[in-house]
Amino acid sequence: MKVAIVGCGNISHRHAEAYAKTGRADLVGVADVVEAKAQAAAEKYGATPYASVTELLAAEDPDLVSVTTPPGSHAEIAIEVLAAGSSVLLEKPPVLSLAELDEVARAEEASEGSVWVVFQHRHGSGAVRAADLLGRGALGRPLVAVCETLWFRPRSYFDPEWRGTWVGEGGGPTLGHGIHQIDLLLHLLGPWRTITASAVRLERPVEFEDVSTASVTFESGAVATVVNSLLSPRELSRIRIDTSGGTLEVNHVYGYSDRDWTFHPAPDAAKAATLGLDPGVRQADGLLVGTAESGAAADPWAASAGEDVPSNHDAQITRLVDDLLSGRTHETTLASTRPTMEFVTALYASSITGGPIHRTDLTPAHPFYRALHGNLPKPQVTESFLPRSGK
Ligand SMILES: NC(=O)c1ccc[n+]([C@@H]2O[C@H](COP(=O)([O-])OP(=O)(O)OC[C@H]3O[C@@H](n4cnc5c(N)ncnc54)[C@H](O)[C@@H]3O)[C@@H](O)[C@H]2O)c1
Repeated sequence: MKVAIVGCGNISHRHAEAYAKTGRADLVGVADVVEAKAQAAAEKYGATPYASVTELLAAEDPDLVSVTTPPGSHAEIAIEVLAAGSSVLLEKPPVLSLAELDEVARAEEASEGSVWVVFQHRHGSGAVRAADLLGRGALGRPLVAVCETLWFRPRSYFDPEWRGTWVGEGGGPTLGHGIHQIDLLLHLLGPWRTITASAVRLERPVEFEDVSTASVTFESGAVATVVNSLLSPRELSRIRIDTSGGTLEVNHVYGYSDRDWTFHPAPDAAKAATLGLDPGVRQADGLLVGTAESGAAADPWAASAGEDVPSNHDAQITRLVDDLLSGRTHETTLASTRPTMEFVTALYASSITGGPIHRTDLTPAHPFYRALHGNLPKPQVTESFLPRSGK
């Protein structure tokens, strides 16, 4: 398989290394608007350097192009790659608005190529097991979830001129950081229905939020809270899902392995009753009464354990190359990431306008369809992120 990379910055190395590890993908070309960066990457990985995606496509005719440029350029580059008939692996966030996402989707429809999106946390073995077991109902019915991206970025992180601005970053931690956990939550829980959110700027020199919180309902009836922060010194990424059968939880920061996942089956009330105990009460040895922890019931989570695949670019790119070479559809399609972009859009829309947003509201006529700030007057948008804006 002939692959190429456009944008030779930080994350491009994870792509180049992951392709090399597959042993079945040949990195033929790399492009960057900064010539020295393309040159350095080309030397490091044995590829040919190009000054633009246009030159790269014309010379190499790659099967797949990783787009690892800043988010504001993703849609335009993806459309150009598709027009040349190649497929695209698009870094997160795939685009900056639903309008851009639909433009890329139209280009995909008209192309022989396809678009896949990097959401590596769907592809570690923990998430693969969780999606399979939840999808089959083997862990019970999801009821309540917590999804937290509690990260820390000091003021100096925002020193580069483009950071902290709508034009440069497209949005705050909801779009740029929390989107990983949000995507995984939606992947595990299915379609969301309504969001009520608050995004505020408490500490950092940014045009948007440095913290956001959301209350979410799902079509299944489940409910969740979501927090995205760049102000949290002890960093944590967490998803916790309480089902009718137990508590499934992953705690990590930038990537998990199997040991970061736990499942605590719900106490077996009948078993506890025969022991004359309250279910859910911890005994002196710390085990819950009447659960698989205490040997009382089979644990479907433990039974699903297999090879431990950590959630990183290697995990997704290995699966992608396997899928493409064997003619399967890779799971993280552009269409499958639309609910994630809808969620992010609704979170901003709810916070800025001050009311709930239903997923069905987000038609092309909705003001936030074209931009995460709704193209509302700048003072109104800026004011909405002040903590005392009356939300
Ligand atoms: N999946 C993850 O965990 C993860 C982690 C970090 C970054 N990312 C994403 O990867 C993307 C890139 O982030 P980064 O940290 O590597 O950024 P970066 O600034 O380090 O690198 C971007 C590179 O793209 C080049 N570039 C800009 N416009 C270009 C164009 N039109 N054509 C060719 N090259 C162009 C720049 O010169 C730069 O070398 C972003 O979308 C970011 O959100 C994903």
